[in-house]
Amino acid sequence: MEEFFQLAIELVEASKKHEHYRDSECINLIASEGIKSPAVKEMLQLSMDLESRYAEGENDLEGHVKKRYYQGQKYMSVIEDRATDLMKKLFKCSWADVRLVSGTHANLAAFKGLSMVTKSQKMVVTPLSCGAHITHDYSGLAGKVLGLVNIEHAYDIKEMNIDPDKSAAIIRAAKPGIVTFGGSLFLFPHPVKELRAVADEVGAYIVYDAAHVLGLIAGGEFQDPLREGADFVTSSTHKTFPGPQGGAIFADLKNTRMEKAIKNVQYAIFPLSTSNTHLGRLPALGVAALELKLFGDDLAKQTVKNAQAAGQYLYENGLKVLAEHKGFTRSHQIAVDVREYGGGKIIAEKLEAANIILNRNLLPYDDQSNRENPSGLRIGFQDVTRRGFKEEDIKHLCDLMMDVIKNRRQPSEVREDVIALRKKFNEIHYGFKSVEEALKHLEQA
Ligand SMILES: Cc1ncc(COP(=O)(O)O)c(C=O)c1O
Repeated sequence: MEEFFQLAIELVEASKKHEHYRDSECINLIASEGIKSPAVKEMLQLSMDLESRYAEGENDLEGHVKKRYYQGQKYMSVIEDRATDLMKKLFKCSWADVRLVSGTHANLAAFKGLSMVTKSQKMVVTPLSCGAHITHDYSGLAGKVLGLVNIEHAYDIKEMNIDPDKSAAIIRAAKPGIVTFGGSLFLFPHPVKELRAVADEVGAYIVYDAAHVLGLIAGGEFQDPLREGADFVTSSTHKTFPGPQGGAIFADLKNTRMEKAIKNVQYAIFPLSTSNTHLGRLPALGVAALELKLFGDDLAKQTVKNAQAAGQYLYENGLKVLAEHKGFTRSHQIAVDVREYGGGKIIAEKLEAANIILNRNLLPYDDQSNRENPSGLRIGFQDVTRRGFKEEDIKHLCDLMMDVIKNRRQPSEVREDVIALRKKFNEIHYGFKSVEEALKHLEQA
């Protein structure tokens, strides 16, 4: 029994230490992690009863609650409907589903639903090393769970983008049920509008995975996939979209083709892949949507500016930042080849020792199986931007990174400067300090 108690003590202590370490002493540059405002965090804490509840059932074609199987739903249905409505309005579409508990779940439901409606198992995807998420790939959810067969988009390494002409030929030849866009290493808008007509020729649905760029889309700083011709947008709600961890799917109910597809995706959500939908996150999701409505344009603009400034500065100082001829990026991330300094794994670990947290990443020319020590780093700027970093602060941070990458100073020495820099940025910007502040703002609006 004593050992059992000891395990519990270790767990609580590690949790407390983690909060201090990652939230107060590190600078976070992981491109897939968002940062919540105090109001979003408070709303999560205020939703603890919801966090215990169930709301299984069907939704209608506006994404609203249609039928629930348990009692006690009086307010829960309102909460789900309002969260759905806020997301629909923010992303200007007629249907959304916020019951997905993650981006992976959103992809599962979209891919499953659309493979049922098209009766096709073929899906065109970006190669993994060129930025696709593992859920799109034959080696992950798409292949191993859903039994989908991948056909790869043609990828232009110089442009760091899908090659629209070559991919058009691939889509025409393969006649897939689904064509995907979007990804995890995602620097430039994908050619959705260029390939819309080709998808129509073969009867394929377009799924755009916006997990990384959803907040930038809300802020008008990235392509708007639904306006460019995507049928479905799948996403996480916790990367550049600074909400609670969760997922969402968006679409427009334009015609009977989309009605059939939405019904199949809804069936793939419930009953096929949900029971508990983690309802406690929905009020906080709505608060995050409100923040993006009010402050999302400025946040997205500064995030992209910061990423571009980092790309430029690191490049000027001799680092191999990809896509220099295109201004490095149009998103929140940049990609850097650090092979000459030992590779992605070694550099990410050295930076971790200096309290700069990021991840190693496969680059398009890497061997896909070399996930252990790929050439690259993926660096994301959404977290530091929300903490108030501007271009000059980004350059300071880049200097600290280069001290480590170029072996100019020991990581332990750099760590002191990283902690000092972090301590200068204690406020979360582009959001509300409390739920009350948000409500006051709304009353005055
Ligand atoms: C493009 C993309 N899609 C889907 C996912 C999966 O999202 P989640 O982690 O919310 O399951 C990720 C995760 O980083 C991603 O990058």
